[in-house]
Amino acid sequence: MKKPRIAVAYSGGLDTSVIVKWLQEEYGAEVITVTGNLGQKKELTGLAEKAYKTGAKKVYLQDLKDEFVEEYLFPSLKAGALYEHTYPMATSIGRPLLAKALVEVAQRERCTAVAHGCTGKGNDQVRFEAAVAALAPDLKVIAPLREWSFRSREEEIAYCERHGIPVTATKASPYSIDENLWGTSIECGVLEDPMTEPPEDAYLRTVSPKNAPDKPADVRIEFKRGVPVALHGKSMKGAELIDRLNTLAGENGVGRLDLVENRLVGIKSREVYEAPAAVTLHFAHRELERLTLEKEVMHYKAKLAHDYANLIYNGLWFSPLRVALDAFVNETQSVVNGVVNLKLYKGNIELVGRRSPNSLYDTGLATYTDGDRFDHKASEGFVKIFSLPLKIYYRVNRNGFVTKKKLVGKARK
Ligand code: ARG
Repeated sequence: MKKPRIAVAYSGGLDTSVIVKWLQEEYGAEVITVTGNLGQKKELTGLAEKAYKTGAKKVYLQDLKDEFVEEYLFPSLKAGALYEHTYPMATSIGRPLLAKALVEVAQRERCTAVAHGCTGKGNDQVRFEAAVAALAPDLKVIAPLREWSFRSREEEIAYCERHGIPVTATKASPYSIDENLWGTSIECGVLEDPMTEPPEDAYLRTVSPKNAPDKPADVRIEFKRGVPVALHGKSMKGAELIDRLNTLAGENGVGRLDLVENRLVGIKSREVYEAPAAVTLHFAHRELERLTLEKEVMHYKAKLAHDYANLIYNGLWFSPLRVALDAFVNETQSVVNGVVNLKLYKGNIELVGRRSPNSLYDTGLATYTDGDRFDHKASEGFVKIFSLPLKIYYRVNRNGFVTKKKLVGKARK
């Protein structure tokens, strides 16, 4: 009988290493590993060798950085998507792309199933499986961590030793870390107590603001149609721009986030993030929108940003709603062109200037000098009619809005 083939999303870490062997044993399967490079700093060299040593039949290593930036990160930036107003979602938005790479290999290799190494209490299992459901509705998904009986890291390590699976000898980090170009997510260990200040060793790509340079770093970002295209006047590809900004902002202590967040599976969890470039780009993009978006569009878009963020966080990237929201967002971005100047200083981002060929800022209307062109007389009728509903309501009810303390008529000592 022909062996079933299973494609596994493989990181080379302990869980996914065990999975490669476990699927051979439990499912009698041929295992194909799929690893995507989303710009994680962790070395990917040696990973293929490791996968083969663990018994993989075939190994796929794919550079997905540009696709990640152009088709995932920049759309989310344009939408202003920050989960619970804070988290730029490096982890959340990487999952659908990894799932897509996995599905493509599974189809090419005629696999009967795909497998992932997400736990049963996290968001990532949802993101992987919802993506597979959308991309290949009839492809089976196996989540070994929900099935197997290992109860600890030690048991998994013992399993590796029994089967001659190479386990990296370095002392395991006390944290669970997920990383890509858009940011690092750090949890577990002492971070599980929301009252505990994250120890310095939890941070991997930002310096502590107190150790950051005493001189602010100038940053100049140029946007075209809502997308960053140049840094300090130099045009570059998105991945390079993000990479450079990660270094620059990270050196200045910018991008640290500490969040108790609501997981999709109902738990509140405490996570620490480092997202130097993402935080800086969201800041700059928002400032440019303030200058260029028409008022109602800007206000409406802020509501949509909330929904867009939830949709990414909840794993619904490949969905008709996201496609429809993108159409709206892209329509708004045609005017989001220009330059934003920032100073990064000891963990802070300071706005120092913005300019746009599509700027709606009109000095003649805004000025209080004698260059004023605003029609002050027109305001009289506007204010009268604008406040008419209140006038009528309070004439009819209570003869005026009643404040808690009426100071009128009372002498204050
Ligand atoms: N809480 C984040 C999310 O759901 C990150 C999850 C992975 N975190 C980690 N430290 N491994 O998107």
